Amino acid sequence: MLKCNPGLYGRSLLRLADLSDEEMMDVLDLAITLKARRCAGVRGDLLKRRQIALIFEKSSTRTRTAASVAIRDEGGAAEYLSKSDIHLGAKESVKDTARVLGRTFDGILYRGFAQKTVETLAEYAGVPVWNGLTDVFHPTQILADLMTIKEVFGRLKGLKLAYVGDGRNNVANSLMIGCAKAGLDYVNCTPPELCPDTALVAEAREIACRNGASVSVVHDPVAGVTGANVVYTDVWVSMGEEAQKETRLKLLRPYQVNMELMRATGNAQGELIFLHCLPAFHDHETVVSSESGAMEVTDEVFESPLSKVFDEAENRMHTIKALYVSALTELSAL
Ligand code: CP
Ligand code: NVA
Repeated sequence: MLKCNPGLYGRSLLRLADLSDEEMMDVLDLAITLKARRCAGVRGDLLKRRQIALIFEKSSTRTRTAASVAIRDEGGAAEYLSKSDIHLGAKESVKDTARVLGRTFDGILYRGFAQKTVETLAEYAGVPVWNGLTDVFHPTQILADLMTIKEVFGRLKGLKLAYVGDGRNNVANSLMIGCAKAGLDYVNCTPPELCPDTALVAEAREIACRNGASVSVVHDPVAGVTGANVVYTDVWVSMGEEAQKETRLKLLRPYQVNMELMRATGNAQGELIFLHCLPAFHDHETVVSSESGAMEVTDEVFESPLSKVFDEAENRMHTIKALYVSALTELSAL
């Protein structure tokens, strides 16, 4: 039997803090059940005839395909709308676009720049809106990350996750909140210039405190990863920040995740994994414009048995499906 969280019916996800800690854990459990269901060959009709609009102002491989397949798997359909396909923010306001799409679709997933845009969509659409990445948050990514950690270790509480790299980007921000909610100790290893917003750190600390966990920001990557069970990194230059590439390369070179840093955790296979939301600059093929091979992670780590990045990528689909089912299905169990 699939247990849904009836409390999430009709609800949007704009940032992880929109969910209670328990609701977030329920979404992860539902995603794990939905994954098993798909692996057993079931393509059901939990989302039969549901229609989702996918608005993408930035490019995407995982989020777009996960969001499309998740709805189709269960009998619904998705309409992909790139920035150039619709009038959003040009000939038509976000508010008007929200009111139009909300009359036609059962839900909207948005990827773009401003957090304000996804908030306005949610305010006026009258249907659930999911944040598929903004400059500030990437909540659906972190659900997949936590699901992957839970699959590997069988638990979340009490583990330690070290994020190494650009400490104030969308992934780092949502990861900090997600770890705090799930009871993982979170260490953000980043240069002083790229520290997360202090108000967000304070919010995460409050959440962590009620779950017996901690949130810290450090500048020494070796000290930061000591004792870590999960080492996580992301690109050094996020979408929309290309002009800062040279500065970022200089700042973040000492924060590259390589085998020496993985060893500095003091943990080995069985107690340690590597995660990356992807896409990753880890080899010469993808780093065509860089002067010296890998950027945020070396090939040695990326291709090692410690790396769970493709399980993590797959889990994007199961977690987004869990969000759809929770928000669009009224039943508490199916
Ligand atoms: N991790 C992630 O969001 O990947 P995409 O940019 O390919 O969607
Ligand atoms: N921080 C990255 C995440 C990509 C999934 C970016 O915003 O480009």
